[in-house]
Amino acid sequence: MNAARGSLLGIEPLDALEILKILKFARSMNPHKPRALLKGKRIALLFYEASTRTRSSFEIAAKALGAYTVVVHASGSSIEKGESLLDTGYTLRAVGADAIVIRHPNAGAPHLMASRIDVPVINAGDGMHEHPSQALLDAYTILRNKKTLKGLHIAIIGDIFHSRVARSSCHLWSKLGAKVTLCGPPELVPDVAVTLAPNLSITRHMDEALRGTDVVMLLRVQKERLAGLKIHLPDYIARYQMTTARLKIARRDAIVMHPGPIIRGMELTDDVADGAQSRIIEEVHNGVPTRMAILARAMGRMR
Ligand code: CP
Repeated sequence: MNAARGSLLGIEPLDALEILKILKFARSMNPHKPRALLKGKRIALLFYEASTRTRSSFEIAAKALGAYTVVVHASGSSIEKGESLLDTGYTLRAVGADAIVIRHPNAGAPHLMASRIDVPVINAGDGMHEHPSQALLDAYTILRNKKTLKGLHIAIIGDIFHSRVARSSCHLWSKLGAKVTLCGPPELVPDVAVTLAPNLSITRHMDEALRGTDVVMLLRVQKERLAGLKIHLPDYIARYQMTTARLKIARRDAIVMHPGPIIRGMELTDDVADGAQSRIIEEVHNGVPTRMAILARAMGRMR
């Protein structure tokens, strides 16, 4: 596939050096000190799925770099009338988009777009496949708190099977030398998940996942999905909800992360969400400089 230079379709195709380069550049980005790196460029934000964090931070990031943005949602656009993904891409290109940021429920949609449209395409989440900008902003957050990922012990808990964030993050953490423990019931963390990347292991027990852990990442768990899998909600909460008592098993300086949206009372308690070890709001905050770096890279302006 010949994606335009600067496209970001996933973490899996990137090497550690490129990931570190993006993260280093992100550290030099300050949304409060706008720079004209993308002055006059037009960034199309094409969202076929709901989003709060990703869409708003890409838009703020683009504007902080001097770009114009146009936001197209599936509802209220000609996508509702049946226009195809590629015809929508050709249309955005024809009106002058210099880059397309796309979120789509189907895995591979950004790759199809990138194979046919001659502008950089940035994957803002495709089905259960990847969410590379989220993995990068989470790595940025970890590095601001822990200095290095090499040798770090990270536990990721919840619905890993359906999570594009888990997929991208496991690739990234593994490439940068962290040890990752996946934790949850077999329906949400199948044994095969261990083959996703090197340095992964699986446990079904929170105590085991949390012992000696530096970073705990929680993932959203949907009640309807549990019901569909015949997992009894109170049993799930009893076994896998992150509580203050459970957090004490992790290292004293462990941080708690969650890509959002969080469901309080489900995957975590209020105490954990709002506690001193939580970095959930910091992750959202770090989305802007990280996405500034991703957009600058897309336009060949990452130095
Ligand atoms: N983490 C994340 O992708 O959040 P949104 O769905 O709100 O963009």
